[in-house]
Amino acid sequence: MRILGIESSCDETAAAVVEDGRKIISNIVSTQISIHELYGGVVPEIASRAHLEAISSVTEKALAEVGGIDNIDAVAVTNAPGLIGALLVGLGFAKGLAFSAGKPLIPVHHIRGHVAASYLSNPDLKPPFVALIVSGGHSHLVHVKDYTDYTILGGTRDDAAGESFDKAARVLGLGYPGGPKMDALAKEGDPDAIHFPRVHFADAPFDFSFSGVKTSIINYAHNAAQTGKELNNPDVAASFSKAVCEILTEKAVLAVNTLDLPDKRLVVAGGVAANSMLRSMITAAAKKNGISLYIPDLSLCGDNAAMIAAQGFYEYSIGRVASTDLNAFATESIELK
Ligand code: KG4
Ligand code: ZN
Repeated sequence: MRILGIESSCDETAAAVVEDGRKIISNIVSTQISIHELYGGVVPEIASRAHLEAISSVTEKALAEVGGIDNIDAVAVTNAPGLIGALLVGLGFAKGLAFSAGKPLIPVHHIRGHVAASYLSNPDLKPPFVALIVSGGHSHLVHVKDYTDYTILGGTRDDAAGESFDKAARVLGLGYPGGPKMDALAKEGDPDAIHFPRVHFADAPFDFSFSGVKTSIINYAHNAAQTGKELNNPDVAASFSKAVCEILTEKAVLAVNTLDLPDKRLVVAGGVAANSMLRSMITAAAKKNGISLYIPDLSLCGDNAAMIAAQGFYEYSIGRVASTDLNAFATESIELK
C-alpha cells in the first residue's frame, strides 16, 4: 500500500510517499529556517504563509516519483499537534487532494509520526517498546504496546527537551535553530566544566523538568556578565547538554528496565534524537543494560512527511480514516483515547 504523507505542523513543509509503512519512495522537505532566522524563532503567521507557498510544489515533487496521485492508495496528514495555522494549511490541502482523487484520508498525530521514523530506519523494529520522545514541544516516555496503542509513562512538567536547548542557545546568543547550534558548540567544550542541576521526582520517576536547568544557565550567564567574566560558550554548551542528556538517558533506561517487556527495546524519537551527545550517551547506556536501541537516521529525526506516511499505514490498518470535517488541533494526547 502506497501512502502520500503531508506534514506542515511547524516550520517544514513536507510531502513523501512510503510503501507499507516501511519503504521510502520519495521524501521532500522544504525548510523555512532562513525565513525565521531573522526573528530568532518560528513566527506562526509567517510559517502558515510559507507553507501555503510551498505545499503544492513539494507535494508535486513527492508524487512525481510514483507518476502522480493515481498511483497512491491513501493520503495521510498531520492534523495535531502543532501550530494551528500551519497545520490547517497541510490539512486543507490534503483534504482537497484526497477527496478530489477519491482516496482515503488518514489523520496522523505528529508525535506518533516521530516514533514511526524508527520503522523507516530499522526494518526489523516492531512494538512493544519504550519510546523516548524528545522534540521542540514534547518530552515523553511512552510505552508503545502496539503500532497504535500508546500509554504515557511520564512527561515534562514544564519545558520540552528541545525547547530547553533552544532557550540555552538564546542565552549564549547562538540564534535559531538553537538545538543544532548547541550540539555543534558542545563538541568543542568540556561537559564537566560546570555542574547544572538534574531534577528528579520521588513520586514520578518518568517525569522530566527542564525549567531548573534553564534558569540555572540564565543565572550563570547573568553572574558572568555582572562580574565581568567572559563566558566560555563551548564549556557552557557542553555542560548544559550533559545535564539534559543524562536525565533523558537515565529515565529512558529506567523505564525499559522497569516495564515487563518481552524484549528490552528502546526507541528515541523527535528532533532532539539528532543530538550527538544524546546519541552516544544513550547508545552506551543501552549497551550496558542489554537494551536494543533504535534511533532514526539523522535525516529522519527532524520533521518530515515520510514518518507521517509510515504511521498513517498503521493508523489505516485499524480503520482510522476521516471525512472532510476533519479538524486540526494545536494539542492532542499521543494516547488518542
Ligand atoms: O521534532 P522536531 O523537529 O519538531 C517538533 O516536533 O517540535 O524538533 C525540533 C526541536 C527543536 O527544539 C530543535 O532545537 C531540536 O529539536 N533539535 C536539537 C537538535 N536538532 C534539533 N536539539 C539538540 N541537538 C540537536 N542536534
Ligand atoms: Zn516534530
